[in-house]
Amino acid sequence: MKPIVVKDVEFSYNGERILENVSFSVDEGEFVAIMGPNGSGKTTLLKLILGLLKPKRGKIEVLNLNPWESREKIQNYIGFMPQKEHISSKFPILVKDVVLLGKAARKKFSKLTKDDEEKAKEALRAVGLEDYWLKRFNELSGGQQQRVLLARALAVEPKILLLDEPFNGVDIPSQDKIVELMDELARKGVTIMMVVHNINPLLHHIHKIVLLNKRLIAFGSPFEVLTAEKMVETYGSSIPIIVCEEGYAHPLFGDTHG
Ligand SMILES: Nc1ncnc2c1ncn2[C@@H]1O[C@H](COP(=O)(O)OP(=O)(O)OP(=O)(O)O)[C@@H](O)[C@H]1O
Ligand SMILES: [Mg+2]
Repeated sequence: MKPIVVKDVEFSYNGERILENVSFSVDEGEFVAIMGPNGSGKTTLLKLILGLLKPKRGKIEVLNLNPWESREKIQNYIGFMPQKEHISSKFPILVKDVVLLGKAARKKFSKLTKDDEEKAKEALRAVGLEDYWLKRFNELSGGQQQRVLLARALAVEPKILLLDEPFNGVDIPSQDKIVELMDELARKGVTIMMVVHNINPLLHHIHKIVLLNKRLIAFGSPFEVLTAEKMVETYGSSIPIIVCEEGYAHPLFGDTHG
């Protein structure tokens, strides 16, 4: 069984077509990056997989279920880290509450167990913030907040992890740790899809890349996808393309760390 199948999917917001002819499928334990310029439909694609949006045409299957029809059910198995999340700075929520929120939402306010708390602590340890359990979320730096939101996605022990630009504002050592963690989870059979702009830190870790610009430009191994031709097709000819020693081509963004 392929945990994620997307077939001929089309989607529009208010009549404006955002995605068309998108087809790919992801195996269990595969680690997949989603790349494409701003506004190319990456977040929209994740929302379709989560069942938050309904495709206009085509078919999506997540763990053999239609996510739009079985949203509540599949959400028990998906850890999601959204691109941006606004948690009011006036609301003095603790880090532990943010991490436990993922679990609490699934349990519909029934009591959280000691085990849930252990899992949440373990997730926080995995992102290197075990000492922040009782700190106020809004007193953390932007990058630390991102890592807490990742811990929240991990704490539900997902079969599928969907991460929308998890590296935003996260320093390089923490990025490396997160990538290592993703490797380990993928080896354990967790299926991971991660939106990224800078592919460099992931190059030797990901199995496949979805290259998107409102339509699927390419899907395959980094070697198949990261060609100068496909980069130009995705990002336009004005973007500088670098070809690294291994023969991969990728766009040179302002932010090239990693
Ligand atoms: N709720 C919405 N209503 C109407 N249009 C939307 C909505 N959300 C996104 N769009 C539009 O859909 C297009 C794709 O948006 P999406 O957020 O999927 O892009 P993205 O690839 O994630 O971009 P980014 O790299 O900036 O995060 C954009 O043109 C955006 O303006
Ligand atoms: Mg986005």
